[in-house]
Amino acid sequence: MFTTALAQRGKTEQGDLPLDLFTAIETLKKELNAVILAHYYQEPDIQDIADFIGDSLQLAKAAAHTNADVIVFAGVHFMAETAKILNRDKMVLLPDLNAGCSLADSCPPEAFAAFKAAHPDHLVVSYINCSADIKAMSDIICTSSNAVKIVEQIPKDQPIIFAPDRNLGRYVMEKTGRDLVLWEGSCVVHETFSEKKIVQLKMAYPQAEAIAHPECETSVLRHASFIGSTAALLNYCEQSPSQEFIVATEPGIIHQMQKRAPHKRFIPAPPLNNCACNECPFMRLNTLEKLYWAMKNRAPEISLPENIREAALRPIQRMLEMSA
Ligand code: 13P
Ligand code: SF4
Repeated sequence: MFTTALAQRGKTEQGDLPLDLFTAIETLKKELNAVILAHYYQEPDIQDIADFIGDSLQLAKAAAHTNADVIVFAGVHFMAETAKILNRDKMVLLPDLNAGCSLADSCPPEAFAAFKAAHPDHLVVSYINCSADIKAMSDIICTSSNAVKIVEQIPKDQPIIFAPDRNLGRYVMEKTGRDLVLWEGSCVVHETFSEKKIVQLKMAYPQAEAIAHPECETSVLRHASFIGSTAALLNYCEQSPSQEFIVATEPGIIHQMQKRAPHKRFIPAPPLNNCACNECPFMRLNTLEKLYWAMKNRAPEISLPENIREAALRPIQRMLEMSA
């Protein structure tokens, strides 16, 4: 079942690791009444042990509905923080507290407060990839799977600030025909894809369909026959009659694509240089070992000031209502 049957385990700074990490994690899960939620960009072993794998919207919904006492979030900080915002009284664990997000970091709260103050009549729609402080300053949260749907529900004469991803913002502008005031943030991973290399790949694999996440730049999106969130990309690959796909998003998703469509070929879109920078360095900080230690030690735990949590909860609830 698991990608690495019994991965090589040994001593760590925290002590001895059990020989069978998968069984040890399952045991801890029962002891803690925990649920493991994982994003599609996590390493294969983590995806395989998770109780639920999803895109940002699916994970937020799963966090909102779980009966578990402890949520172990295998993703990045803003995702675990969202789970905590939705669950004041539950323990939320993140295997590595340094698993941040360049996009969330590109929108510091003080600068955003000044930006918002400069547009006092604007409604603030923020992509879920932002800190709790930014969510607390927002009117509605969205994800890559519902951003278009949410903006379409806002009256046409209502001016809107869209933050923090300028690429998703531009994509929403194109889809809705709305003029949005964009915060100039971006994701290091999705901005690394090279238009030139995608064109070269399309020439090398003429039958392959290029598919892309809307966090990519317009120059890359224009070569994609389908654009969507990670969950949407996954569904598309499964249902499309095509047998080959060039995938312009974090390649962690290919693990699920390959599972759902084992006979199809998935080619990760190459970055500009011959680096591994199409892998999210933050998502990849989480490992199965760190997940085990987080459950064993009940740490690192996400905590938030209650006033920020309450203020950040309202725009998330609006998103959940508007995308029901
Ligand atoms: P989705 O989960 O909405 O596809 O977004 C991808 C992403 O970059 C998460 O950080
Ligand atoms: Fe953030 Fe980009 Fe990593 Fe997603 S892929 S967590 S947006 S840095």
